[in-house]
Amino acid sequence: MVVGRVIGGSAGDKIIIRVKSNSDIDIGDILIVENNGVKYYIKVVNTLINSLLPNQFIEDIAGQKLEHDMDLKVFDKKDRFYRICQAKILKVMKEDGFYPARSIPHYFSEVRRANSSEFKFLNNREGVSIGSLRLGMQVLKNVNVKLPAKELISHHVLVSAATGKGKSNFAKVFVKGLLSIDNVSSVVIDPHNEYYGAKNIKGLRDFRNKRVIYLTPKPGNYPGSEKLMIYAEDLMPGDFREVIRASGPQSQAMDLAYRVYKNQWLKQLLVEKNISEVEQDMKSRVQRITIASLKRKLNHVMNFNPKTLEGLIFSLKKRSETNLFDKIKRGVHDGKIIIIDTSLVSNLVERLIAGSIVRRLFYLYSQTKQLNPEKFRSLPELMILFEEAPRVLGKNVLEKGSNIFARIAREGRKFKVGLCAITQMPSLLPQEILSQMNTKVILGLPSPSDRVAIINSSAQDINDESIEIQMMDQGEALITSPFINFPLPVKIHFFDELIKNNKSSDLNIGIS
Ligand SMILES: Nc1ncnc2c1ncn2[C@@H]1O[C@H](COP(=O)(O)OP(=O)(O)OP(=O)(O)O)[C@@H](O)[C@H]1O
Ligand SMILES: [Mg+2]
Repeated sequence: MVVGRVIGGSAGDKIIIRVKSNSDIDIGDILIVENNGVKYYIKVVNTLINSLLPNQFIEDIAGQKLEHDMDLKVFDKKDRFYRICQAKILKVMKEDGFYPARSIPHYFSEVRRANSSEFKFLNNREGVSIGSLRLGMQVLKNVNVKLPAKELISHHVLVSAATGKGKSNFAKVFVKGLLSIDNVSSVVIDPHNEYYGAKNIKGLRDFRNKRVIYLTPKPGNYPGSEKLMIYAEDLMPGDFREVIRASGPQSQAMDLAYRVYKNQWLKQLLVEKNISEVEQDMKSRVQRITIASLKRKLNHVMNFNPKTLEGLIFSLKKRSETNLFDKIKRGVHDGKIIIIDTSLVSNLVERLIAGSIVRRLFYLYSQTKQLNPEKFRSLPELMILFEEAPRVLGKNVLEKGSNIFARIAREGRKFKVGLCAITQMPSLLPQEILSQMNTKVILGLPSPSDRVAIINSSAQDINDESIEIQMMDQGEALITSPFINFPLPVKIHFFDELIKNNKSSDLNIGIS
């Protein structure tokens, strides 16, 4: 269906189209121009109204309507008042695939709507189905967008949008999709307890898949779940350093305690010994005041009952079951999706739990690569998913010192470990981290500073999509990635409906 004709433009910038009077063209529409023996895929980035009449005359007509309710008859209205749209060239399709545009269609070239079959190039790719292609407001239900999950994961994914726009929904859909891909694993740090599912919340448990493991401090409420309990004997000084913001002397005191008491260091420090005994054991190499403040900080985080020696998460008792970290390592090794419920603990404790798990997994991968490359090749691609990313990757956090999440952002891809970071405010992340997150899933972002941060760090040029990003509704996304041909507008599946349609078939169209 012809919707317009080209009336100008430049190859490096946008082309200008006069729009046919009866066609609805929205920002975000993908249109096709066939010319010069190639097919231009173009995307509408702005629309405006125009007229052949002088301004004064237009103002006069408007005035007559307003002041006297008079409708001046304009001769050939359709010809004299019309719409123009600006469109950017996404790519040029030639016989053997897509290329960047180095030419521009001629004057008066026909512009028409793209149809589903024109997205067949997305075909036949093993991937995770995340939604349907979206052209402006229109959703092409029969064009199922699949993302090449494994490539995406190790090059990191950033999911950003204002609150309520559908970040967690996307993440749930993506993680659910991983269940049908071999040799991937994910650890999901879940501060709102929304991934596994509970009463009135749909979640991954609804798919009854054996690959899903759920660790929660309250396993009694969730059949099939396991207890999230960390024994002090399995924790090391390195787990606490950045969480408790240890000063230099406090940090040295922890190291010394670990050397003196081995894996009993926390129990000895917090329960068994008083300050002067600790001072003696450390051969007075640490000041009493340092020991006292360190004890206070550690106690605050571990928050256990001195009588039972247990808290919600931490126990100072002797461990009688498998080490939680080993359990998680095994799960990752076996390609499980491991959801960790941190909804009942403070931010501080969540960071301790997440940091200590993620650090061990990163070392597992990096050391295996060094020591046993063959085994490394068989390890699954690992995705660490976490919400509210600025808490660990924020500029203000990283200014005070780096951490394991920033390290994975920089180095993870060498070791098959990737981040899926979720945030409402990408502008709080440093530019360097933003640029490391190669795939960006952008849902509606009304705040200009957040849009600028995302746009400036995207793998593809999305400067012109700023208005679209500002206006996107719940579940509408724009995805940029080095692994896709051009920024893809998508309507993300609604997770709750995926459960309902668990058995519905896909068209199996994927991204090449
Ligand atoms: N793809 C979608 N299709 C239909 N509805 C959606 C979609 N995504 C989200 N929604 C609706 O929006 C609501 C909020 O989504 P979600 O919880 O994922 O937002 P969020 O961005 O994670 O919000 P928050 O910032 O509060 O964490 C959902 O409960 C659902 O009703
Ligand atoms: Mg959310």
